[in-house]
Amino acid sequence: MERHRWDDVHVMDHPLIQHKLSILRDIGTGAKEFRELVKELAMLMAYEATRHFQLAETTVTTPITETTTHVLAGKKVAVIPILRAGLGMVEGILELIPAAKVGHIGLYREPTTLKPIEYYCKLPEDIGERDILIVDPMLATGGSASAAVQVLRERGANAIDLLCIIASPEGIEEVRRSCDDVRIYTCAVDSHLNDHGYIVPGLGDAGDRLFGTR
Ligand code: PRP
Ligand code: URA
Repeated sequence: MERHRWDDVHVMDHPLIQHKLSILRDIGTGAKEFRELVKELAMLMAYEATRHFQLAETTVTTPITETTTHVLAGKKVAVIPILRAGLGMVEGILELIPAAKVGHIGLYREPTTLKPIEYYCKLPEDIGERDILIVDPMLATGGSASAAVQVLRERGANAIDLLCIIASPEGIEEVRRSCDDVRIYTCAVDSHLNDHGYIVPGLGDAGDRLFGTR
């Protein structure tokens, strides 16, 4: 059966997420609060994105009795932020999954062509054996996310999910076209891209707002 572009696109409409996203978008939100919100949203997104993780039975002795319970049993996790802005999402996810390893992929959008330029890549050696969460607050043209998936695939990665706080329809379309089997988790699918490749209404430049560079 042909895949629809919205297959495996998970839009998280939880009230807490939508509330925090509204504050994140606001032009009046400063860098400190912006960083805190990105961290919190990433943690909430990871909660949903790990729902399919496998469990195994184990036995635990509580103060009352012995009982059968469940623990995580699937593959280990790698969190892969796309630099720079993806860095803001790492800490929140590590608080939920402290054993995860972190790989970094450095990409920036060339301002005129909007094409991603790779400038850095350092991944865990056993990347092929891990469940991978690529994190980047913005999925705009989809060029950066698609390039990150390609870099990971070339180094042997298999199971890849993408967590982006805001997505454009164009970005989802591009990820679906270039890497069909990647699950996409997002808090909102916005209207469109403007002439400069920014998401409308979006939140502006995520990297600059996180790090106060503009
Ligand atoms: C932003 C954002 C994504 C990319 C999305 O990064 O964090 O990585 O743009 O755009 P795309 O979907 O059209 O590729 P940017 O290139 O501005 O770099 P930065 O994070 O270093 O600021
Ligand atoms: N990168 C951003 O930081 N924001 C956008 O809207 C698009 C790309």
